[in-house]
Amino acid sequence: MKEPFYVTTPIYYPSGKFHLGTAYTTTVVDAIKRYKKLQGYDAYMLTGMDEHGQKIQTKAEEAGKTPQEYVDKIAEDAKVLWKKMHIDYDYFMRTTNPLHEEAVQIIFDRLMEQGDIYKGEYEGLYCMPCETYYTPTQLVDGKCPECGREVVPMKEEAYFFNMKKYADRLLKYYDEHPDFIKPEYRKTEMINNFIKPGLEDLCVSRTTFDWGVKVLKDPKHVVYVWLDALTNYITALGYPNEEKEMFKKYWPASLHVIGKDIARFHLIYWPIFLMALDLPLPKQIYVHNHIMMKDGKMSKSKGNVIYPEALIERYGLDATRYFLLKEIPYTQDGLFTPEEFVERFNYDLCNDLGNLLNRTVSMVNKYFDGIVPEYNGTPNEVDNELEEFTKKQIKAVDEKMLNIEIANALTEIWTLISRTNKYIDETMPWSLAKEENIEKLSSCIYHLIENLRQIAILLTPFMPDTAEDIFRQIGIKEENQKNWNSLENYKILQNIKVIEKGEPLFMRLDAEEEINYIKNCMQ
Ligand code: MSP
Repeated sequence: MKEPFYVTTPIYYPSGKFHLGTAYTTTVVDAIKRYKKLQGYDAYMLTGMDEHGQKIQTKAEEAGKTPQEYVDKIAEDAKVLWKKMHIDYDYFMRTTNPLHEEAVQIIFDRLMEQGDIYKGEYEGLYCMPCETYYTPTQLVDGKCPECGREVVPMKEEAYFFNMKKYADRLLKYYDEHPDFIKPEYRKTEMINNFIKPGLEDLCVSRTTFDWGVKVLKDPKHVVYVWLDALTNYITALGYPNEEKEMFKKYWPASLHVIGKDIARFHLIYWPIFLMALDLPLPKQIYVHNHIMMKDGKMSKSKGNVIYPEALIERYGLDATRYFLLKEIPYTQDGLFTPEEFVERFNYDLCNDLGNLLNRTVSMVNKYFDGIVPEYNGTPNEVDNELEEFTKKQIKAVDEKMLNIEIANALTEIWTLISRTNKYIDETMPWSLAKEENIEKLSSCIYHLIENLRQIAILLTPFMPDTAEDIFRQIGIKEENQKNWNSLENYKILQNIKVIEKGEPLFMRLDAEEEINYIKNCMQ
């Protein structure tokens, strides 16, 4: 096995049912974890829930529950959803876990002891839903720059973290580690919007509510949710016990994946907390963009929220995963529209992928009674070219995945699918059969099965069920013909029998009917 690869999602606020946007980060991380696992890494995925804070306390009160009862129920629902979405996480972290709470107290205490955290008084403009204080200059049109809601003036005795002390060290770190933040423009944003104008010390405790981790030496204060939440990435591995096997093995994390709305917390505060704790920083933080609706952000008040369950139940898990992973470009927001969902389903999944499989399986049955002819060692120019093209695409997929360009990695796979479809048109197996050119026909069919096998391997991290279905239909059973190392090897298939009658991977949708159906699902 190759080296450890520790990848994390943010831990989610249990402020309601998880919508398609929230499911995005988790699906991306799952695909990355599966991809690394496929390549032989010792991949470990962390997800979980961020359960403290005023917002949760208020939600629980509204629901007539204790905060603990409230978060317990949502944690169960979240696990059901992740199971439904085949999220292959290794640990589900909850910030109400007593071991985590104790660790947060120890961390806070240590930062206080060493003078990074000091007591003062906070007066500022507070956004209740975001649980964040802002200075007047940070507001946009007098409102919260993150969520656009009203901010209220608040004053409280509070502890502060001395951010200023670490600002230069952070800039130096950014400079010396060009791959630390992906995409790079997010780093520029942090420098220009927050660090250069002068990093403010961060208020890291609250006294206005008590649903949180109490400060050990001053229990009328609870630890600020972000300090509490960010540390989950290390407490999940056993920190503050640095001798724990898991901690030694997986820290520093290989990759944190986060959405753009929480960039400041992960790109500035988290690295600084780690520096103060004298710990190495995560190797990379990838900031993704958001899924938007035609009328802006998904929100209940607009009635434009779409839940993953609705799509999964009607169109299947892999169609939903495909859409999610394909729809957010590397440097822009993605757009969810019912029209686009149906179009992708019909074109990419039914036409391109589904037809390639279907045509191939039926030709193996028609020309060779279902038995795949063996590699005959005399590939012609077209076959050679297909082999070379496939190798090139595998490299392209890998390059994109290394750069965390998920949607682009899928585009490269679809380029390979299209090229393979084109190969059928170029070689015209039906004419080869008519001419009884068995040698060329055998080579053509062998190459089609091979390409489908290699496409299925590449699809495994993104659409695991579909990949298995392709393997089953083309008769690939051996694990060593489904793994990363068997890619690019065109000579390994022997005694392969495809199923007698190909089964459609995806059934073509009636566009109008389904667009209406999805529109009706929006709430
Ligand atoms: N609790 C914090 C994270 C703490 S991590 C130490 C939080 N939770 S959240 O539930 O509000 O968001 C979780 C993730 O979902 C974030 O990465 C956020 O960017 C992502 N998304 C929320 N809406 C989204 C879209 N519409 N599209 C894509 N991702 C979205 O933030």
